Amino acid sequence: MARIPESFIKDVVDRSDIEELIGRYVELKRSSGNYVGLCPFHSEKTPSFTVFPDTRSFYCFGCGVGGDVITFVSKMENLSYVDAVKMLAERAGMSMPAEDPAAAAASKQRETILKANREAARYYHACLKDEKLGLAAREYIAKRRLSAATVTHFGLGFAPDGWDNLVKHLKYKGFSEADIITSGLARRSKTGGAIDFFRNRLIFPIIDLRGNVIAFGGRVLDNSLPKYLNSSDTPVFSKKNNLFALNFAKNKGNDRLILAEGYMDVISMHQAGFTEAVATLGTAITPEQARIMSRYAKKIVVAYDTDRAGQEAVKKANRLFGELSVDVKILAVSEGKDPDEFIRENGAEKFEMLLEGAKSRLDYELGILRKTVDLKTPEGKINYLREAVKSVAKEHSAVTREVYAAVLAGETGVSAEQIKKDIDKVVGINGKKEALNEIKEAEKKLAVPDVYGDRSLEMRTVKAEEGIIAALLKNNDYLHTVDGVGPDLFITEKNRRVFEAVAERIKNGEETEIYSFAGDLSPEDISHLAAIDARSRLTQKFTKRETADYVAVLKEASEVKSAGPLNELSDDEFRKLFKKK
Ligand code: GTP
Ligand code: MN
Repeated sequence: MARIPESFIKDVVDRSDIEELIGRYVELKRSSGNYVGLCPFHSEKTPSFTVFPDTRSFYCFGCGVGGDVITFVSKMENLSYVDAVKMLAERAGMSMPAEDPAAAAASKQRETILKANREAARYYHACLKDEKLGLAAREYIAKRRLSAATVTHFGLGFAPDGWDNLVKHLKYKGFSEADIITSGLARRSKTGGAIDFFRNRLIFPIIDLRGNVIAFGGRVLDNSLPKYLNSSDTPVFSKKNNLFALNFAKNKGNDRLILAEGYMDVISMHQAGFTEAVATLGTAITPEQARIMSRYAKKIVVAYDTDRAGQEAVKKANRLFGELSVDVKILAVSEGKDPDEFIRENGAEKFEMLLEGAKSRLDYELGILRKTVDLKTPEGKINYLREAVKSVAKEHSAVTREVYAAVLAGETGVSAEQIKKDIDKVVGINGKKEALNEIKEAEKKLAVPDVYGDRSLEMRTVKAEEGIIAALLKNNDYLHTVDGVGPDLFITEKNRRVFEAVAERIKNGEETEIYSFAGDLSPEDISHLAAIDARSRLTQKFTKRETADYVAVLKEASEVKSAGPLNELSDDEFRKLFKKK
């Protein structure tokens, strides 16, 4: 937990305009005194992300993420709480006070790991350059047609064969075994020693947007398995939030990014001049990665292998980018080839042509469909149309749907009107599904989300707990209304902690703005507090009477609790509890 003095945090929050700051990341529109926009933490089409200027907090009714301006920056920029305060302080031209020991230790460890990573990258690179040690790896690199400039640019390296070459080197450089293991560069052997994670592999350093070496990928030089190894998550690396070569690609600035599957594809593309190429780190693209990419470019070309697995991956990318209203094109590299092989065989110019001819999602899907059917037979036409209609119906634009109805008509000989009717039918069904989803979403807004980790908790009691906390935040003087309510009446740990902190501050005559809990509560609990505050705006009237009712519920629950098992609430009763009034 942060131990930066509260007064300093207050100053930082005071000097950071939450609408302005969040507005840099999210397009905000005014809505009844608050601001709403599309949530940057999950994919959505209708805005549930809300900024509350009065409490200087935010909350997303869709995904349940909330907090103050510090929480926002730390989530958005992937920073620790302390680093987020630092960033905001810097923006506001303030210098940081001395840190608390625990936060300082964590921050120090991250620094140490980054240093170890940098030293490892240097070591691997030196091994690659080493006359004898790097010979096989250099031969392999030559075979893959990578130039010396490319090797230097990407800082490629070689992890020599042997159990602990790197461990020894890092120890010699002064790193402790514990730090080396935390960094993921080595792991514990069964006999308790430390052994290098990457052995006898070509090394690809992964570098973040600030130029830190945060992780590595490693490839074998032959056909042995596993072909690639990737660092696991560490205190400085989270796989789902990073992309290989984005540090270079973001500087191209031509509003286009190319998404490939592998390190070698990306490196080949950069070498051929396509420096807007990035890759995920050995996993399918995540919503976080899609969002990060959409921040840098509105046009994404997906350049995956077109094998079966590749097609599934394309589907996922289409869905994720589609939700972000990014223009996605799919590159059709000829059968079984990846961009690296294509460029090696056909050169950069042909690849540029391929990029220009990249297909829209719809053309890509129809192309695949066509290959699976025989349009000369009636059955083939029917099967084709059934799937094609579904694919066209996903398009948002009515004009596009109409154009494709004509295309399908031309292909099958069925009238465009008839096909259009079928498309409209599917669009109608999809629309209903979406409407239903929206209703469900709206209901979710009123429900207590699953943040308590125990679904069997009695919702009525949980709601009463939240109600009391929200009422106290808004009306500090209600403390006497809830007289007799002690932490022991709370059935959830989270709410008990939050309640104690709130009650304590009120007793001491201290402020209860959300940020002011930085010294008392963890960032997660502060986020929870913001969530309670946001949800209460939809469900609570904040009268003394209502608050007293919540108190009664808690007291009753504790009597029942001591008497026996809790009664289950029916769904209906449950919903009623969350209706206003
Ligand atoms: P090359 O054979 O070097 O051309 O590989 P590639 O870049 O064409 O990679 P491939 O299409 O085989 O795999 C794409 C990406 O998936 C790689 O860059 C790795 O990140 C990841 N990957 C491939 N094989 C493995 C594996 O065995 N284990 C893990 N963890 N990741 C892998
Ligand atoms: Mn390849």
